[in-house]
Amino acid sequence: MSNTFYITTPIYYVNDVPHIGHAYTTVAADVLARYRRLTGYDVFFLTGLDEHGQKVQEAAAKAGIDPQAYCDGMAPRFQNLWKRLNISNDAFIRTTHPRHQQIVQRALQTLSDKKLIYRADYTGWYCTFDERFWTEKDVVDGLCPDCRRPVEQLSESNYFFRMSQYQTALRNHIASHPQYIAPSSRRNEVLGFLDKPLNDLSISRPKSRLSWGIELPFDTNYVTYVWFDALVNYLSGPEYLLPTPSVNRYWPATLHLVGKDILTTHAVYWSTILMALELPLPKTIFAHGWWTVNGEKMSKSRGNVVDPYAMVDEFGADAFRYFLLREVPFGHDGDFSRQALIGRINSDLANGLGNLLNRTLTLIERFSHGVIPEPVAAAETDLDKELQRTALSVVNEKLRLAFQLSTKAPVESEQSKLALNQALEAIWGLVQLGNQYIDKTAAWTLAKRPEDQARLHTVLYHATEALRFLSVALYPFTPETSEEMKRQLGLVLNFSKPLLAGDLQWGGLLPGTKVAKGKALFPRIDITAKTQGEVRVMTPDQQSSDPKEDPTKSVASQVESGTGQISMEDFLKVQLKAAKVLSAERVPKSEKLLKLQVDLGNEQRQIVAGIGKRYEPDQLIGRQVVIVANLKPAKLMGVESQGMVLAAGDHEVGGLVTILEEVDPGTKVK
Ligand code: MSP
Repeated sequence: MSNTFYITTPIYYVNDVPHIGHAYTTVAADVLARYRRLTGYDVFFLTGLDEHGQKVQEAAAKAGIDPQAYCDGMAPRFQNLWKRLNISNDAFIRTTHPRHQQIVQRALQTLSDKKLIYRADYTGWYCTFDERFWTEKDVVDGLCPDCRRPVEQLSESNYFFRMSQYQTALRNHIASHPQYIAPSSRRNEVLGFLDKPLNDLSISRPKSRLSWGIELPFDTNYVTYVWFDALVNYLSGPEYLLPTPSVNRYWPATLHLVGKDILTTHAVYWSTILMALELPLPKTIFAHGWWTVNGEKMSKSRGNVVDPYAMVDEFGADAFRYFLLREVPFGHDGDFSRQALIGRINSDLANGLGNLLNRTLTLIERFSHGVIPEPVAAAETDLDKELQRTALSVVNEKLRLAFQLSTKAPVESEQSKLALNQALEAIWGLVQLGNQYIDKTAAWTLAKRPEDQARLHTVLYHATEALRFLSVALYPFTPETSEEMKRQLGLVLNFSKPLLAGDLQWGGLLPGTKVAKGKALFPRIDITAKTQGEVRVMTPDQQSSDPKEDPTKSVASQVESGTGQISMEDFLKVQLKAAKVLSAERVPKSEKLLKLQVDLGNEQRQIVAGIGKRYEPDQLIGRQVVIVANLKPAKLMGVESQGMVLAAGDHEVGGLVTILEEVDPGTKVK
C-alpha cells in the first residue's frame, strides 16, 4: 500500500474575500492532513488560488487595476487567513505562475496532438457568471439553470475537448470504484448526470471576449477556459512547487475535497481530462455540503457573509475549527449562527475539555505538589479500567474508523466516510468520562486519609494520562489547544512525529513530571450578562473559585447544581461600591454598550455597560451608580471594562441601581 497522502482543496477565486465556505474546506483538509501525518503518511497538502477568468478580470476592472496586480493584492488575504487558522498546507499554488501556465499549455498541446481537441462553431446560451454555455433545453425562462441569472445567446468559434468520448469509460470507472465519488449520494448524482448524453467541452475563450487567461499553445487568439486551467493545478502543484518534481511521488491524488456545487467539474471534466492524458484518476473526490447563516443562504446582498478573520479574532482559531467540524456531519449542509458557536464553546470546549484540564491540574497542585505522581497497580479499580479502555478505543479504533478512506471497507456505508464529527463525538465521550471520573474518584476525599495515598496517586495519574490521550487525538482538529495542553501537563510530545503510526499505549506519562497550570484553554463566554448585554469573555478566575469540597468546581456550578442558595461568605466575596459617573460615551458600532469613566473615591475606573438602549450618555453624567468593584477586567467589543454597573431588568435594561441618599464615591454597598 502506498504511504503517500495527497490532499487538495479547490483553488479559490480571488475575486472575493475569503468566507466561511473557503475556511470550511481548508480546515477540513488541514485536519485530514494533520491526522495522516500523525499516522505516518507522507503527506502533500495543496491549496491555492484560481486567478484567471472572467470574474477576476471583471473584479480587477472594477477596482481599476491590472488583473495581475489585483491578484497579487488579494493573495495575501487568503495566505494570511490560512496562517491565522493554522493551516498546514505544504504548498500554495497561484495559477498565474509561469510554471503552472506552461504545464497547462503542455497538457493542451498533448490533447491537441492526440486529436482530442477540435475547433467548431457553436451557438448557445451563455451565462457570464458561470462562464459557460447552456443548450436550449437547459435554459429555463431565459435563466441559467445553475445560478438563475439571465443568459444571452452567443455564437462563437471555439476549441472543444472530446469529452463525450469518455462517457462510458467514466461510468464504468465510477461503477467499479465505489469510493471514487463520496458521499455515496453524490456518486448517484454524478451517475444520474452521466445518464444523459455527455457533450464535448469548450476549452477556449476568444480573447475578444476574455483576455485574462492562459493563451492556447496552438492559437494565440484564444485563452484557456478557466476550469481547464484551474483543474490542472492538481498536477502542476506537485510538479513545480516542491524542491524536486514530485508528480510521480504523489499522483494520483488521494483526495480532492470540493464543495457540492463544483462536483461535476471535478467528477466529469477533470476525470475525463485525466483519462485523455492517460493519467490515473484520483482515489476519491469528496463533496461537502454548504453553510447557510441563521437559516439563510449566505450572500453579499444579504450582508450575512461570515468573515473567518472576525471569528478567529473573537473566538480563536481552535474554537472556530472545532465548531466547523463538530456541528455538521461532513458531507451534509449546515447552519452557522453565533449562538450555536458560542453554545459549543461554552459547553464542549470550556465546560468540557477546559474544565477537565483545569480540574486535573488543580488536584495535582493541591495534592501532589504540582508533580505527576506514580500510579500503584494494586490501587486500580474498575473506574480506572473504564477510563483506560475508553481512551484506547477512542484513539486507536474510533478515530481510525472515522478518518477512514479505505478502498477495502467491507460495508458500503463505511467507505470514504470521513466522519469527522463522529471523531469529535468520540473524543468528547472521553472528555465527559474524564470529568465523571474526577467526580466519582473524589481525590479531595482521598487526600484527607493517609491510607488512601496510593489510590490518590493512581487517580491523579489516570486523569492526566487521559488528558495526554486527548491532546494527541485533538491535535488534527485543535493544534494550538493540544500544544497548550502539552505545555501545562509538562508532556514530552512532538506532534510533528508520527505519534499514531502504531497504537497509542496507556502509561506513557512520566511520573515525576512537573505540571504548569496556566490560562484556561477556552474562556467561557457569558451571553447572559444582563447589564452588559453583549458577549463577555470571562477570565479563568471568574470561572472558578475555591469551594470547600471539590476544589475543582466553581461556586457558580455549585449554585447551579444545588438549591440556588449561597452562603453569606460567598455573597461577601462580591464587593459592591458606590461610584459617580464622570463621563459617558457610546462604544462605536454597538447599540447597547456605553463606556463610562467612574469615580471610586481613591481611583477612577473605566466600565463598559450594556445600558445604551435605555440611556443616552449625557443622562448619566454626575449620577450615582452601584458597581461590582472586584470583577476581573474583561474586554467588551475590544474595550476594557474594569467592573460592572448594576441595573434592573430581565431582558432589557429597566433602570440603573442607585442609592437613595448621596454617599461618597467608593463607599461600600452591602
Ligand atoms: N475556483 C473554483 C474552484 C476551482 S478548483 C480546481 C471555485 N472557487 S470558489 O472560490 O468560488 O469556491 C470555492 C469553494 O467554496 C467551493 O468548494 C464551494 O463549494 C465553497 N463554498 C462557497 N460557498 C460556500 C458555503 N456557503 N458553504 C460551504 N462551502 C461553500 O469554485
